[in-house]
Amino acid sequence: MASRILTLRGAPKPLNGTYIRNGPGLWEVGGSAFHHLFDGYATLVRVSFRQGRATGAHRQIESDAYVSAVASGGPVLREFSQCPKPGSLLDRVSNVVGIVSGAVITDNANSAVPPLGDGRVLCLTETTKSSVLVDPETLATVGKLKHADGLGGMMMMIQSAHPIVTESEILTMLPDLARRGHLVVRMAAGSDERKMPLRYSASSLIKCEPAPYYAFEWLPAYGSYMHVMCRSTGKTVASVEVPPFMVMHYINAYEEKGLDGRAARVIVDCCEHYGDPSIVETLVLHRLRSFGDKDVLPNARVGRFRIPLDGSPFGELDTALDPEEHGRGIDMCSINPAHLGKRYRYAYACGARRPCNFPNTLTKIDLAEKTAKNWHEVGAVPSEPFFVARPGATDEDDGVVISIVSALGGDGYALVLDAATFQEIARVRFPYGLPCGFHGCWIPDKTLPGRFI
Ligand SMILES: [Fe+2]
Repeated sequence: MASRILTLRGAPKPLNGTYIRNGPGLWEVGGSAFHHLFDGYATLVRVSFRQGRATGAHRQIESDAYVSAVASGGPVLREFSQCPKPGSLLDRVSNVVGIVSGAVITDNANSAVPPLGDGRVLCLTETTKSSVLVDPETLATVGKLKHADGLGGMMMMIQSAHPIVTESEILTMLPDLARRGHLVVRMAAGSDERKMPLRYSASSLIKCEPAPYYAFEWLPAYGSYMHVMCRSTGKTVASVEVPPFMVMHYINAYEEKGLDGRAARVIVDCCEHYGDPSIVETLVLHRLRSFGDKDVLPNARVGRFRIPLDGSPFGELDTALDPEEHGRGIDMCSINPAHLGKRYRYAYACGARRPCNFPNTLTKIDLAEKTAKNWHEVGAVPSEPFFVARPGATDEDDGVVISIVSALGGDGYALVLDAATFQEIARVRFPYGLPCGFHGCWIPDKTLPGRFI
């Protein structure tokens, strides 16, 4: 739909730019309905702030999966939880051919929306064919990102849905479906070519079977390992066994020095489910639609890995703060991007309000004080709180946090919180309801002085 002026309550600080959020937003096409959260066709939501006014829009990503589903009255390509049983031998053969060639695999880019640093905005999920470019103003689908490097190939049709994005590059992983291992790749801003390919030994990582395609096997007997690579050379500098863990989103990682002033260990923080893989099963829609006042998901904590750099064979995993601070639920995290890869104090995430552990709060974690501030409204389901720093800020939490909220009664709005106090600054109401969603990005308005960056 076209952009339209929306009501803005309150007066935010000079916030000039565009927030875009991606996520599944359509779970029914024709007479067919999906049953898992990750199946939904991607919906983009945009809120643009300019000199105290806000405009908003939403639009479906016109992936091949979505377009063909609309045309056919039901899904044509295979989504996350779909594993249709072939009937005849011919069906089985064509199914195998379709998987190996990627022809039946989805390109439904419903997870992240990273800007590439050269003005282009990418939407993606776990399949490499889902790398869809969109116009950040109109939200129109403008094409697919065609990599110029020739990396990947038939057995590397999967990618991380959570690349690490800086102003200058994007780092991601390509799992190898034929052999255990990953290719770790980087792509400079303004390029379509991924460089520094490296065979990343994952022989002791939790094994991911290529079939059934979107299902995971939990194989704790294989052990859980973490590997540390030198970012500039690609050399593995540590490889340690750690306790079994279940993580969908990492918060940050940084080096910690020892008494001699040299790097002694790497700290890795994450949203961790106590090694319980059932989180994947529990994200089915009928559970999420009826969470009420009881726990429907495995408990979650801020997990902290300590990976020694002295050649020790084992790393540690413990809990960074009392999980009761955030209601035993924590996921969909962000930090001040200036602290990416560096020591930091604050993380922003969706937490929970007891007696349920469903992520129904916006939560600011203070890792120094080991406390949390929580924003909560009855019946509201917020999406990832995204931190945007104030221009010229020196304090880590000097800025705002933006989240799209699906409210009780079907309303939807963008919420702007002061990141320091975690108090509401502004609320931008949409004239219609908004689906829940996943990840967002911030594109500053470079034409206005004093912009948020
Ligand atoms: Fe995610």
